[in-house]
Amino acid sequence: MVLVLGGAGFVGSHVAKLLRRREIPHLVADNLENGHRAAASDSPFRRCDLRNPDDLRALFEEDEFDCVLLFAGYISVGESVREPERYFRNNVGGALNLLEAMKEARIERLIFSSSAAVYGEPQDVPIPEGHPTHPANPYGETKLAVERMLHSFGKAHGLRSISLRYFNAAGADPEGELGEDHRPEEHLIPLAIDAALGRREKLVIFGDDYDTPDGTCIRDFIHVTDLAEAHLLAMAALDDAPAGHTAFNLGSERGFSVKEVVDAVGRVCGSPVPHETGLRRPGDPARLVASCGRARKELEWEPRYSDLETVVRHAWEWRERHPDGYGQET
Ligand code: UFG
Repeated sequence: MVLVLGGAGFVGSHVAKLLRRREIPHLVADNLENGHRAAASDSPFRRCDLRNPDDLRALFEEDEFDCVLLFAGYISVGESVREPERYFRNNVGGALNLLEAMKEARIERLIFSSSAAVYGEPQDVPIPEGHPTHPANPYGETKLAVERMLHSFGKAHGLRSISLRYFNAAGADPEGELGEDHRPEEHLIPLAIDAALGRREKLVIFGDDYDTPDGTCIRDFIHVTDLAEAHLLAMAALDDAPAGHTAFNLGSERGFSVKEVVDAVGRVCGSPVPHETGLRRPGDPARLVASCGRARKELEWEPRYSDLETVVRHAWEWRERHPDGYGQET
């Protein structure tokens, strides 16, 4: 049985859907602080808070798990700068509680949701996994700290783990059942869609004086269903893996500027995105583009949905059909 921690969140809920589809026995656990119960309503569910070791012990006493997928964690870069203590307590302290409980329960396999934020400002793009890691904010520091714990637990206790370093997770379930519902929403594509649909006055582009062709930041958008598929491939890879930790980048390997995304959203929605240019957002690297050769070769991962038009179209379809996301129930 697979434990999906944080399985009511954006990426976790898409992975839970794939597990259901492939009939892989699993349990979704989430504290529902940011996740939505409705996002995982078709999977068995338990409430669990990683900061509470008793919650984890109870889970591991009730069921036998052979693999844990760790999605649970805070994700806002700006908030992590203002309140690093919450980020370290939740993302790092929670992961340490989990690793200790897994050790006690003799569970040896873990897949961790890491981030391109571990690299900080890249020396060059595309970024391979061997690129130096100098996170530019506490959020990225917490992701790197967990990766290092995984490495140490591999050496000391035989843990087999994979970190998946997502670039910009975006899009939505192609069947329209699941999508992005962050509160507050801070991500570019859903904000641009809301502006195009008239649900928000305008999008503010954070800076157009970067050293890029049109002056706006360049990002690599990866469809959430492609991310989900990578988790299943990573789980399979752990079956024959020795103890240790490996990191894989997950991106589309194509960079689009914020202005290009705004144009794509306008095309897909059929109405332009009202926008203005504001100040740079502190901590935004100018360019983030993944090199994913390792995932292609070792996991045989091939993104299917990650051309920008498809990413935006799926996000738009979800947003149009679910104007209030998952609604009031969380
Ligand atoms: N942007 C705007 N206006 C907005 C929102 C975003 O111009 O209202 C710009 C940002 O400045 C950035 C780009 O759009 O250049 C993408 O911003 P997002 O907030 O959508 O995503 P980020 O690239 O900041 O963050 C993503 C993940 C993080 C991860 C980070 C890696 O969401 O979890 O990549 O650095 F840490």
